[in-house]
Amino acid sequence: MTDLAGSIASRHREVNDTNAAISEFPNLQAMRERPAARKPLAYAQRKVIDAEGPVEITRPTNMFTLAHLSDVHISPLPPVAAKGLLGKRALGLLSWHLRRKRHHKMAVARAITDDIRASGANHVALTGDLINVATPGEFTQGLQWLEAFGPHDWITFVPGNHDAYVPVSWDEGLGHWAAYMTGDTQIPATAAQTRQAGAFPFIRQRRNIALIGLSTAFPAPFHQATGILGEAQLTRLAASLSELRKRGYCRVVLLHHPPLPGQARDRKALRDCADLAAVLHTEGAELVLHGHNHTEMFSRTPGPDGPVPVIGAPSASYLSADNNKVARWYLYAIRRAGGAWRINVTARRYDASKAEMITDRQFDLDAEYS
Ligand SMILES: [Fe+2]
Ligand SMILES: [Fe+2]
Repeated sequence: MTDLAGSIASRHREVNDTNAAISEFPNLQAMRERPAARKPLAYAQRKVIDAEGPVEITRPTNMFTLAHLSDVHISPLPPVAAKGLLGKRALGLLSWHLRRKRHHKMAVARAITDDIRASGANHVALTGDLINVATPGEFTQGLQWLEAFGPHDWITFVPGNHDAYVPVSWDEGLGHWAAYMTGDTQIPATAAQTRQAGAFPFIRQRRNIALIGLSTAFPAPFHQATGILGEAQLTRLAASLSELRKRGYCRVVLLHHPPLPGQARDRKALRDCADLAAVLHTEGAELVLHGHNHTEMFSRTPGPDGPVPVIGAPSASYLSADNNKVARWYLYAIRRAGGAWRINVTARRYDASKAEMITDRQFDLDAEYS
């Protein structure tokens, strides 16, 4: 039996286990009975598959599949009026044309979005930097790209620093994509604040999965790519995580910047990452997904129920000789089994030699901590 066939057979066996666990939902006590945190293995020990062909996912009815991609940096950049070419935006355009556009290829991004659609993922998380220097034409272009990719109730977007490159009003800028970042939760105590466009964090509820969208985007000073959450957003995040934890939801936190101290250089870092790490330490989360560094990143941070997995995707349009930076997307297969959330990760990498997507690794997040 091949590894993949073995994995599929094992998942079928687990359906019964999962069905039994789901039938308890929302029995909060049972859902909170998590195994104690165990010592993590080195990530180098993860299984590497390097399989060709489309991603193969068995789909028990109680499994939720979430695709994650980031940092599309759509191109070519639309024309910019001369009056819009002042200051930071002009230098950003120069940097794009001199350096960055060599690496970001929309054919690669198309391979990824086609692959995601073919996977039949239940939902998509897109963690920012859709565009480059926040010109009016880019916001229109971004909306067209999003609509071509999929409907707003299938894609959840959170903005990145390049989506707020310079000050632009909500209506003229990010508001174009509001439908992709508006909450729809019915959960009491979290609903009121998160169902308004432009309110962060917003929460989207898909079965017993809660997607929590944060904004770290703000017009950083010249030559900086920093992000910030701010006290109000952090306070609301803590309250939402607490409520969702009590209710037994699988909490998936989405943000653009890497969330932990030391994960990005000062010039590019989330300014209040220590505060965010403190919130995660107190309230926990089942998964934190981010982008921004344009490289694959696996980390974890302490939470109340054990380590919180923190995973960063490289740019979804990037071609590079550096394997960690090559465009990828990730499929998270989330299910409830044995009184705990189980998450299996499939990483899909763009193979430039074949101009197609391949599976380069698949592993259980649980196994990382066993
Ligand atoms: Fe980026
Ligand atoms: Fe970024």
